[in-house]
Amino acid sequence: MAKTQDELKEMVAQKALEFIPQNAILGVGSGSTVVKFIKAIQANGIKVQAAVSSSNATTKCLEEIGVKVLDPNTCEPYDVYIDGADEINENFDMIKGGGACLTREKILASMAKTFVCIVDKSKLVDILGKFPLPVEVIPMAREQVARTLRALGGEPKLREGCITDNGCEILDVHGLSITNAAELEDKINGIPGVVTVGLFAHRGADVVLYATDEGVHEKRRA
Ligand code: 5RP
Repeated sequence: MAKTQDELKEMVAQKALEFIPQNAILGVGSGSTVVKFIKAIQANGIKVQAAVSSSNATTKCLEEIGVKVLDPNTCEPYDVYIDGADEINENFDMIKGGGACLTREKILASMAKTFVCIVDKSKLVDILGKFPLPVEVIPMAREQVARTLRALGGEPKLREGCITDNGCEILDVHGLSITNAAELEDKINGIPGVVTVGLFAHRGADVVLYATDEGVHEKRRA
């Protein structure tokens, strides 16, 4: 029987428990799949020594289940970062930032030896860009960044009512068909006033766990 997206997220969250390192710091992303992962940690009585967190919301969830959250400035590079994605392609490049946490997610991903991406099958795509690409911007640069994004062929829209944990705004860029994710990541990151683009190509996933009606599948970067 076909599973709901919620059920698929629960399945993949459960599977991700197998990737939690023992006696080591865990990097934790943000979003509804990650919330299910944190709930599964609690439900299965799994011990997490300490964590680094990609958002205030994730920090709250972790602390509610008794996990100590560390300032990344006090940590060395660590083993495993677990996070969802809005889209992921065959090359393990991702669009992230649907939850507006892209900058901190990218920082934690850059510190991790292994990035485990946890998604349901709806996130698997051939070409990135159907999901509007989030770009975190310094508020006073918003209009100039938007002009430059238009010149790159996108259609930026301000995410209304959204202020990130870093006090910035999000432009969601519609209408892109991203065939060279690393190149576009560099271009957008180079626009003055951009804090981070939600393209994760230079630091893509290493392992993808994706849930389908048949179960959870695992793919590793070659
Ligand atoms: C948050 C993210 C999330 O990983 C992404 O939006 C997926 O979220 P969900 O698990 O709710 O589908 O990048 O900034």
